[in-house]
Amino acid sequence: MILLGAPGAGKGTQAAQICKKYGIPHISTGDMFRENMGNNTELGKLAKTYIDAGKLVPDEVTLAMVKDRLERDDCKNGFLLDGFPRTIAQADGLKALTSLDCVLNIDVNTDLLLNRITGRRICPKCAGTYHISTLTSDLCPACNEKLVQRADDNEATVKSRIDVYNAQTKPLIEYYGKSVKSVDGNQPADKVFESIVKVLEAI
Ligand code: AP5
Ligand code: MG
Repeated sequence: MILLGAPGAGKGTQAAQICKKYGIPHISTGDMFRENMGNNTELGKLAKTYIDAGKLVPDEVTLAMVKDRLERDDCKNGFLLDGFPRTIAQADGLKALTSLDCVLNIDVNTDLLLNRITGRRICPKCAGTYHISTLTSDLCPACNEKLVQRADDNEATVKSRIDVYNAQTKPLIEYYGKSVKSVDGNQPADKVFESIVKVLEAI
């Protein structure tokens, strides 16, 4: 399945729960790029120049990385793609690699996105994602590690990411047409998850 949605729509939050419930790997292209950036690989150095500017990493680079990942054994019984595809060219590339059981879109009003993203804190150890509005300290509630903010979670970069989403990724909703199942992502995260499970159980 693939998960569509604007930056801050809650893709990562929902993907973690979906993958836990259904026992499938969570493949986030953003997380893969950040892992490479952390390890200072050639791919990471290249990705950083785009990510820091709020732009998309080139399609051919992203597609090659995803193709490689989907060939791994753990994808044999299904997988969830979070943040991929993000362009029509990526969607065409994916079509050549696999068929899809579900295209899920998390729909959130644009005016909520900035606050969600600038208030996000992540755990570098267990990858937990939180929002400052629900945190009581700067330590991860799950593993006590000091939480950090993503380098691209500043106001200027977020605006560019939202513009890029509207120009290049939103058209995928039309591309996938009737196969798209949309859920209301403006609700609290546990309600969004309930809506997603209903959609998945009806497939
Ligand atoms: P990526 O890491 O995919 O970032 P993104 O798409 O901008 O989305 P986010 O991760 O910011 O948001 P999310 O929807 O996962 O929300 P989350 O659950 O964390 O990509 C980063 C960059 O990498 C891109 O800009 C691009 O440069 C590059 N890249 C990645 N994929 C690429 C591709 N395919 N092609 C080319 N380049 C690519 O939630 C956000 C916050 O809201 C959190 O604080 C959370 O706690 C809170 N929250 C979540 N749900 C709710 C809710 N229901 N109610 C209230 N708060 C909520
Ligand atoms: Mg994410």
